[in-house]
Amino acid sequence: MSLIYSTSVLCIAVISLVNCVNFCEKYAINGKDGILSFTNPDMATLEFGTATQVKRLHCCAAGFTSIRWYKDNVPYPWKLIDPAETYPDIEHNNQTLIFDHLNEYLDEATYTCDVSNGTQHISHTKRLQVQGTCYLDMLHSKIN
Ligand SMILES: *[C@@H]1O[C@H](CO)[C@@H](O)[C@H](O)[C@H]1NC(C)=O
Ligand SMILES: *[C@@H]1O[C@H](CO)[C@@H](O)[C@H](O)[C@H]1NC(C)=O
Repeated sequence: MSLIYSTSVLCIAVISLVNCVNFCEKYAINGKDGILSFTNPDMATLEFGTATQVKRLHCCAAGFTSIRWYKDNVPYPWKLIDPAETYPDIEHNNQTLIFDHLNEYLDEATYTCDVSNGTQHISHTKRLQVQGTCYLDMLHSKIN
């Protein structure tokens, strides 16, 4: 009984966490009946992160049927050392890229989302700059 209770409490906690993480949901009201548009009023072209942190890049849109991401003009999914892995994760109908462990050497790039409704496209490009940690910088200078 208490196990079932604590499991359902955990589920509720997880569900609310997932909901609050859907950043684009709060902008959905900015979409106008089926018109292809970006809904997030703050479309930054430069974003910053720190190595090892969790970072999300958003492309909140309405009236679309597909969103494709490009990293330095290469379409998602991007090749990794382990081909079975897909990184970063992509969520909420591709509106969000989630880097769960930001890496200054792998993730610093220019990212473009191409949003389409089948007949028209709109796109947005942002540069992600990743600040290394002191430890990583030291390691890197030793390698070079
Ligand atoms: C795509 O979006 C444009 C601009 O909002 C609109 O004029 C067009 O009808 C849309 N096409 C479809 C298939 O919804
Ligand atoms: C999301 O992106 C993947 C990879 O580019 C693509 O295969 C899929 O069709 C996309 N889905 C949507 C809803 O845009």
